[in-house]
Amino acid sequence: MSTKDHTLLRGKTALVTGASSGLGVDFARDLASRGCNLILVARREDLLRQHADEIAARYAVKVEVVAMDLAAKDAPQRLYDQLKAAGRAVDVLVNNAGYGLYGSFTQLEWERERAMLEIDIVTLVHMTKLFVRDMVARNFGYVLQVASIGAYQPSPLYASYGAAKAFVLSFGEALSYELRRTNVRCTVISPGVTATEFLKVAGQQATLYQRMLMMDSPTVARIGIEAMLKGKPSVVPGFLNSVGAFLPRLLPRRAQAALAEATMR
Ligand SMILES: NC(=O)c1ccc[n+]([C@@H]2O[C@H](COP(=O)([O-])OP(=O)(O)OC[C@H]3O[C@@H](n4cnc5c(N)ncnc54)[C@H](OP(=O)(O)O)[C@@H]3O)[C@@H](O)[C@H]2O)c1
Repeated sequence: MSTKDHTLLRGKTALVTGASSGLGVDFARDLASRGCNLILVARREDLLRQHADEIAARYAVKVEVVAMDLAAKDAPQRLYDQLKAAGRAVDVLVNNAGYGLYGSFTQLEWERERAMLEIDIVTLVHMTKLFVRDMVARNFGYVLQVASIGAYQPSPLYASYGAAKAFVLSFGEALSYELRRTNVRCTVISPGVTATEFLKVAGQQATLYQRMLMMDSPTVARIGIEAMLKGKPSVVPGFLNSVGAFLPRLLPRRAQAALAEATMR
């Protein structure tokens, strides 16, 4: 059942991280189409403003922009304090900001990898800690955690990224269970390859396998928001991606790693 005509989010406020490109923009558009006001966060302020203007004009919602490096020390706390001081309550948190790094583990530069682990793991948990407490206190809220299909098996050539997303998957599903007696829902979306800036940032040319399975970003975002509004703990968008997430369970871990690497070369 489509949740498109849902009035649940009308007049509520969603905070979307990583909303300057790709999935973040489409999460924001989808939420706005349901009448939700937005706070968009990322580093590239010019892009955030462009998207904010377009979304506000198209959906008649309020859109605020916060340009911030969320991997910087205490960034989530500063963002939380800033919104609290402005009297802004966050009803929906989309923890989407993040990136991957492609390549042999021994070749990847540590500083870029450290920053990736910071945004993909520490920032996501800190944002959740800060905003979910208030949602529980108000007895209303939704959190969407963005993991990856790479979370479902060891992912050679994306070794630390895949492991970071395995953390997000496990963390989000556990939190979903912890929150079951509240009116706050936590959902993990694990996209397969999606047409965004992801591969460019990761430093990878799309493989044949990836080109065949690539999904468009608005579709993936819609599937994520619909799963979130239904209170599902987890969703893998697309039939082939769902099969790809399930099949490795039937294989020994080493075979899973070999298969994952074969699809990435
Ligand atoms: N596309 C895929 O194939 C795919 C598959 C599985 C999972 N994912 C996940 O989906 C999420 C969104 O990625 P995408 O595919 O939409 O890629 P994208 O187009 O590169 O978008 C990534 C977003 O994260 C933001 N970001 C990165 N580092 C940041 C930082 N330090 N502080 C604040 N914002 C930061 C970027 O904004 P600024 O650069 O302006 O800061 C950008 O808005 C990521 O978590 C990614 O791991 C993507």
